[in-house]
Amino acid sequence: MTQLGANLTAYSRRDILRLGAQASLGLMAGGSWTSPSAFARDQIAPPSSSPTFTPDLDIALSAAPNEVSIYPGEPTRVWQYHAEVLRGDPQRVVEIPGSYLGPMIHVLRGEKVRIRYHNRIPQASIVHWHGLHVPAIMDGHPRYVVAPGEAYLYEFEVTNRAGTYWYHPHPHGKTGPQVYRGLAGLFVVSDEKERALNLPSGAQDVALVLQDRSFDRRNQLVYLSGHPMERMTGFLGDTVLVNGKPNFMLPVATRAYRLRLLNGANARIFRLAWEDGHPLTIIGTDGGLLPAPVQRPYVYLSPGERLELWVDFGPRPVGHQTALVSLPFDPGRAGRGRMGRGGPQGGPLPNGAGLSLFRVSVTQRSTTAERLPKKLAAFPPLQPHGALNAGNPRQFHLTMRHMQWSINGRLFEMDAVAEEEIVRLGTTEIWEFYNTGRGMMHMGDMPHPIHLHGKQFRVLARSGVRHAGYLAEGWKDTVLLLPGEAVRIQVAFEDFAGMFLYHCHNLEHEDLGMMRNYFVQA
Ligand code: C2O
Ligand code: CU
Ligand code: CU
Repeated sequence: MTQLGANLTAYSRRDILRLGAQASLGLMAGGSWTSPSAFARDQIAPPSSSPTFTPDLDIALSAAPNEVSIYPGEPTRVWQYHAEVLRGDPQRVVEIPGSYLGPMIHVLRGEKVRIRYHNRIPQASIVHWHGLHVPAIMDGHPRYVVAPGEAYLYEFEVTNRAGTYWYHPHPHGKTGPQVYRGLAGLFVVSDEKERALNLPSGAQDVALVLQDRSFDRRNQLVYLSGHPMERMTGFLGDTVLVNGKPNFMLPVATRAYRLRLLNGANARIFRLAWEDGHPLTIIGTDGGLLPAPVQRPYVYLSPGERLELWVDFGPRPVGHQTALVSLPFDPGRAGRGRMGRGGPQGGPLPNGAGLSLFRVSVTQRSTTAERLPKKLAAFPPLQPHGALNAGNPRQFHLTMRHMQWSINGRLFEMDAVAEEEIVRLGTTEIWEFYNTGRGMMHMGDMPHPIHLHGKQFRVLARSGVRHAGYLAEGWKDTVLLLPGEAVRIQVAFEDFAGMFLYHCHNLEHEDLGMMRNYFVQA
């Protein structure tokens, strides 16, 4: 502990390299770089499409104020993404009727996508493609925010594995409130290999976005109450919404389903389980299908994470009902959020409270019987010994500093990276995250879901874990660390140089600065 403490105080502003400043750039990279921000800004102003890029799918996407009917009575004022296919198959954009969520965008791996984003909300914003492996300039870094009325042009090739990804705003300091108002949507990638598995499709392939919200008496969204502790904890609503709807019910037939779950909440963590005690059959994680199905009594799903379930209602009679629930758990004293709405006596629904997420009702007979494939996807072996820093993993400590959540004692700085945040293009590294408080657990024992932009990584090891709620398998872009836990990941920095983010996906933590850049040096 003493050694760690010494390290913490040793960080100083001298360690921070400002990439915008040519002097430090020259020092750092032998003078061979251009400033990444200058480069990026040149490329995007004014937004125009490149003549050499021929999109398979060309979409106009806007964020704009709208009204939706969530409860009887007054409609709820929201901000919402809308999309229109300008070129390509119009079926690739699927609206969710009556929801504030943005449309689902469907793409095939290998396709080239052009998205013309138009910001029509009264705040600066930018769109981030959560989980997608795209160039830095296409990733929605907050320094690319566009003002109200302005546009941003995205052009990228989808190289990700088939899986469930999503998009949401990423302006610094305002991601939480903008997502909360409704700005989020799913981005689903499929490919030939996945199709060959014949997993449940069509009406049997169901995407479910799990969120929590609070409403006032006039059906309007209530964000933070203003209690300072509430921002520290993150926003916790008193109502669970699924695909933007309360009291969500999924009618099913007596056959198999693929359920794609996204935790799209700002700060609420779910400990997923079937109400009737059946184990969960998990087929996919953030970065797509697992090597093989895995069974678990329960699994944690923290903000930003996705999980794909396979569930066969074949053996259940018509009329049978069950529910997907979140089992109670202990998120740590500070993590409960009992200091939130209503003051220190506690909000109505602390993080870790048991809840019903949605009900499932078997309403229809079906004679179709599906088999769950024993093998799902090919996985490259883990190669931690081949990592550049195998003997000396980078360590990132999630700590409280001056009553703010920080990473290695640092808060977000728009154009800066520390020396220890610079990696080399084409290398694989081992990174470790510690939510062990550096001996200051009393200051804040909080869960932190840690997310890396632009990469899918593998979990090599965890420590301090006293539950069975994590999967070791699967590609991840977000990992939860409950208080006292640490995680070791293997991540490859391939294809794209430039500035990317890593941050806590508790959106209030992120907005308060629990976010940093990492720089991939060519
Ligand atoms: Cu969904 Cu920066 O993340
Ligand atoms: Cu992301
Ligand atoms: Cu956090």
